[in-house]
Amino acid sequence: MKTRIVLLGIFCLSLGYGDVVRKDACYTCHQVVDEDRDDDAKIMTHIDQDIHLQVGLSCADCHGGDPTAFDDPDAAMWDNDDFLGAIERGDQPEVCGKCHSDPQFMRQYTASVRTDEVQQYWTSQHGKLLQQGDEHVAVCTSCHGVHGILKKDDPRSPVYATHVPETCNRCHGDADTMAGYGIPTDQYQQYKTSVHGKALLENNDIGAPACNDCHGNHGAMPPNVVTIADICGTCHVNNRQLFVSSHLNYDMLNVGAKQCIECHGNHGIQPPSEELLHAGTKTFVCQSCHDLHGEKAAVLATQMDSVIDSLKRNYDQARALISTAEQKGMEVSDLYEFLDEAHRSLMQTRTSIHSFNIQTVRETAGPGMKASTNALEGARRSLQEYDRRRWSLFFMTLAASFLVVILILKIRNM
Ligand code: HEC
Ligand code: HEC
Ligand code: HEC
Ligand code: HEC
Ligand code: HEC
Ligand code: HEC
Ligand code: HEC
Ligand code: HEC
Ligand code: HEC
Repeated sequence: MKTRIVLLGIFCLSLGYGDVVRKDACYTCHQVVDEDRDDDAKIMTHIDQDIHLQVGLSCADCHGGDPTAFDDPDAAMWDNDDFLGAIERGDQPEVCGKCHSDPQFMRQYTASVRTDEVQQYWTSQHGKLLQQGDEHVAVCTSCHGVHGILKKDDPRSPVYATHVPETCNRCHGDADTMAGYGIPTDQYQQYKTSVHGKALLENNDIGAPACNDCHGNHGAMPPNVVTIADICGTCHVNNRQLFVSSHLNYDMLNVGAKQCIECHGNHGIQPPSEELLHAGTKTFVCQSCHDLHGEKAAVLATQMDSVIDSLKRNYDQARALISTAEQKGMEVSDLYEFLDEAHRSLMQTRTSIHSFNIQTVRETAGPGMKASTNALEGARRSLQEYDRRRWSLFFMTLAASFLVVILILKIRNM
């Protein structure tokens, strides 16, 4: 074995001296070592795209060793005190952190760079369990890969938004890996069917959250109850604002209820509608904590429902009439401004229910009611105008025909 490796070294020496990386003994010899390996054991397949090699770093910067020792593998590897061999999972945060936790070093490469990944990682459930010697948890290379690490905004990266759910699911959806922890393994299955999952995975809308937008990139923990509204609120700013200042937030926190996700769920969030407010039906969202009938909660839900319902009905009616008038060739473009305003207000009113205050909901619906009434009246006027024009056309045609008949009779008589 040993002589074979020495021979390899001599062979490596004889290879061309190309750019910086290729003058590296580790790189050169391991290209050759790889040739004897099965495809899935090769380590050099994607090495040239690795961000570290791209910025001029090399094998020895992570592994240690002497990259100038071309002819002797022992001198290159095992004789060096700093040579780490195949870096153990438990050592990864420290090895990667040597650079990634050092702002001064990292700033040589990028002006603005985060250096809190490792620090965050140790606060995560992954990090905490790794410290206790748990081998199943995610370490740096579980999410980023190894020997082909890409920048986070490279669409091929396993941490690029559209790939994150798959990356987490490799473990979290695998019953064997997760056996013994007693937590569900259906997060991805649920997520795929949710509004967020569909937006991200089917429509490539990277504004929709992937797993890491709710759990953090490096600090993933079971979320604390009081922070859930903040997590959702990073995007749903108004819903959060209204909800955290509502009495319901305090009432819920008092009993340890989990803010937004009590009503919407977390991984399988579906598009909500006013059906959730229909007291007395199966879809009534308040019933998990309140009775179906009679209670103040049912009363409030019904009131909010009816505001949304009448605004929606007015809006739908106005839109239908405007469209009829347009089909009859009437000029209605100015009415669309009212319609747009009514629609905006309808959206805001749906959001305003998170105040759980009927006064606020009514006030938010006010401008929409006015705009949809304006739109409705405008559309009615234009349909009346259409009828008026049609009747006058009819009478004019009638009068003209009458004149023609008279004229014909006159000519006959002559
Ligand atoms: C002359 C050839 C040669 C040179 C130079 C060389 N290696 Fe190796 N290296 C090998 C061989 C052969 C193995 C054993 C591979 C195997 O059979 O899995 C190995 C193994 C390794 C391992 C895995 C060790 C383990 O514990 O399994 C690492 C990591 C490694 N080399 C890194 C480096 C680094 C970093 C350098 C440069 C500082 C380097 N090598 C230079 C030939 C070389
Ligand atoms: C960014 C840091 C980093 C760089 C750069 C890097 N490695 Fe590694 N390497 C690792 C880590 C981490 C592991 C352990 C991976 C694991 O446990 O899955 C590893 C494992 C290995 C192994 C043993 C695993 C195996 O499949 O045989 C070899 C050999 C190796 N590296 C060689 C190299 C060579 C050669 C280079 C340069 C071409 C290189 N590494 C560049 C971090 C790095
Ligand atoms: C559970 C998965 C996961 C683990 C474990 C993980 N990362 Fe990340 N990492 C991510 C995600 C996701 C991103 C960010 C993607 C984004 O912002 O689009 C990221 C981004 C990064 C970045 C880019 C800069 C930044 O912070 O946004 C670096 C550097 C990085 N990680 C290093 C590490 C290191 C070092 C470790 C080990 C201590 C590690 N990561 C462990 C998932 C992970
Ligand atoms: C010798 C220093 C060094 C070590 C060790 C190191 N890195 Fe890096 N890493 C860098 C530098 C420098 C960059 C390039 C920064 C840039 O250009 O944005 C980088 C970039 C990255 C990026 C892309 C960051 C981005 O902006 O998207 C990730 C991810 C990453 N490293 C992960 C790792 C992981 C995981 C390990 C450990 C297995 C590791 N690094 C070890 C120095 C290092
Ligand atoms: C290498 C496998 C692996 C990968 C990849 C992985 N995890 Fe984990 N994760 C685990 C294991 C194992 C646990 C420990 C479970 C426990 O303690 O309940 C865990 C725990 C967690 C927890 C705490 C759960 C709890 O209630 O205890 C969260 C949250 C989490 N992971 C999120 C993520 C996210 C988000 C990603 C992707 C960005 C991810 N994980 C990637 C293996 C992994
Ligand atoms: C919209 C935000 C959001 C997204 C996206 C999201 N999660 Fe969660 N996740 C949560 C919340 C909130 C909890 C806490 C639930 C609780 O306390 O009952 C949670 C809980 C968890 C847990 C703990 C066990 C459990 O199921 O309760 C794990 C593991 C987890 N998520 C992983 C993931 C993975 C993997 C993905 C991506 C496929 C993901 N999450 C996407 C918000 C989210
Ligand atoms: C990273 C940003 C982001 C985070 C975090 C986020 N969302 Fe969303 N959410 C979106 C986007 C974008 C959409 C629109 C998706 C679509 O339909 O195209 C959306 C849609 C929704 C919808 C459906 C809205 C509708 O009108 O159909 C609900 C309900 C929702 N999110 C609730 C939540 C809850 C609850 C949380 C926290 C557990 C949360 N979101 C976290 C971005 C986010
Ligand atoms: C007590 C139950 C409840 C709680 C708590 C709750 N919601 Fe809602 N949410 C609803 C109902 C009911 C609707 C449907 C309103 C409609 O369409 O008529 C809704 C609708 C939504 C919508 C779609 C309408 C819009 O505003 O665009 C989003 C997004 C949303 N909620 C996010 C959140 C977020 C974020 C939180 C936490 C800060 C939260 N919700 C807390 C019951 C709740
Ligand atoms: C996760 C449980 C939970 C859900 C879901 C929930 N509530 Fe409540 N609510 C509470 C708690 C706890 C209180 C305070 C104790 C009480 O008065 O019953 C409360 C109190 C109230 C009160 C004040 C009652 C009073 O007697 O003064 C109103 C009004 C209310 N909720 C409305 C609603 C509406 C409307 C919904 C659905 C859109 C809803 N709640 C959904 C837990 C919940």
